[in-house]
Amino acid sequence: MVESVVTMEKIVNLCKRRGFVFPSSEIYGGLGSCWDYGPLGVELKRNVKEAWWRDVVTSRPDVVGLDCSIMMHPKVWEASGHIANFSDPMVDCKKCKGRFRADHINDLRCPEKPSKRPGECGGELTEPRNFNLMFKTHMGPVEETAAVVYLRPETAQGIFVNFLNVVNSARLRPPFGIAQIGKSFRNEITPGNFLFRTREFEQMEIEFFVKPGEDDAWFEYWKATRLAWYKRYGIKPERLRLREHASDELAHYAKGCADVEYEFPIGWSELEGIANRTDFDLNAHMATSGKDLSFFDDSTKERYVPYVIEPSAGADRSTLAYLVDSYDEDGPDDDRRAVLRLHPALAPVKVAIFPLMRKDGHPEKAQELVELLRPNCAVMYDHAGSIGRRYRRQDEIGTPFCVTVDHQTMTDDTVTLRDRDSMEQQRLPISELLAVVKEKIAPPAPAALLRP
Ligand code: GAP
Repeated sequence: MVESVVTMEKIVNLCKRRGFVFPSSEIYGGLGSCWDYGPLGVELKRNVKEAWWRDVVTSRPDVVGLDCSIMMHPKVWEASGHIANFSDPMVDCKKCKGRFRADHINDLRCPEKPSKRPGECGGELTEPRNFNLMFKTHMGPVEETAAVVYLRPETAQGIFVNFLNVVNSARLRPPFGIAQIGKSFRNEITPGNFLFRTREFEQMEIEFFVKPGEDDAWFEYWKATRLAWYKRYGIKPERLRLREHASDELAHYAKGCADVEYEFPIGWSELEGIANRTDFDLNAHMATSGKDLSFFDDSTKERYVPYVIEPSAGADRSTLAYLVDSYDEDGPDDDRRAVLRLHPALAPVKVAIFPLMRKDGHPEKAQELVELLRPNCAVMYDHAGSIGRRYRRQDEIGTPFCVTVDHQTMTDDTVTLRDRDSMEQQRLPISELLAVVKEKIAPPAPAALLRP
């Protein structure tokens, strides 16, 4: 295990204090495992999603985007197997009325006697019963069975049911992918660990369609590509690993699956799953809808149902990983500094601008710099407190660069540019500031991994 100063408690506290993430509906006591992103958190998560979209959609010729509705025809979930199989085994305690996941019983605590495990409070546990994780609601004014709809538990199915629409409109042929970012909902029995497992979360999914027989090579390609993405945006390689699923862990339709795992303070846990889903989904929707979802290759005159490689990541879980991984403390005990060493492309604020004094024209000059940089990146102006304290405030929210307007600025039009990580300062002419900042905050170039 890598030495670390970070704990989940420190991250939760920092997020609340500095406006990254708040407990949802807090003035009413909160709502179990629901979280609201504050002004800085919303920027960080947007940057994570943009980094993903840029790498897997915009910079590639073979992946297009999609944004499907959250509520879909109930037949979708029948075909996908979610109505029949998307469930966890649950047990109830007859004494305290607690409800627990049967397969997590050894890790859970009795709500009445937290020193004991479920069932050890003197109560008897029922036999396990399956509990479907999909949220159910009704469409329209009548709450009858015919009006039941579900909030999607994954974004993937919206992609499968649009396969034909995309092939026909975008004139694509395998190998190609469809990517989507959007909210998913699961009535998780044991949510927790902050943003790690919640009931409402955002997924970033790609369904990559390939010719059967080419699937193994593409599976390897996507595993390497996705692992490289996390590293490129700064996650420490020693805290990342790929874990191949054993054959008894695989979903019945999957030919292979591997998780990108991160070493969170709670231990190694899944960040993203990459699965070879074979032709299961398209076949299932063909059978249920009666529509032909096979692909006809004009050049070879072959017709086939494409296989699917699915890299499926969580936007919230990735955001949490970037927060945890970037958290650091340094300096002597009596002058400790908390710092988020976020990749500049992910940092919510790229540059903070400080006037040294609140007089002598410093604030006006600093505001000019704000206006110079604002069209190009997120900027923050701060004139409160000593320069040292202002640096610390920015370090804690991950701002990579601070610019100070001082007495010398007023005579020679230069400023200091301070680097968050090295804490070094360089003096540079204002005329060069924009170009220097632009270069420093540019996202890393997407990996040039060779396609199979
Ligand atoms: N379409 C495949 C699929 O949904 P999954 O492993 O169930 O696969 C993919 O989910 C990713 O979505 C996970 O690796 C995780 O990052 C995120 N995710 C799943 N359930 C989540 C939850 N309850 N809270 C936060 N993120 C979740």
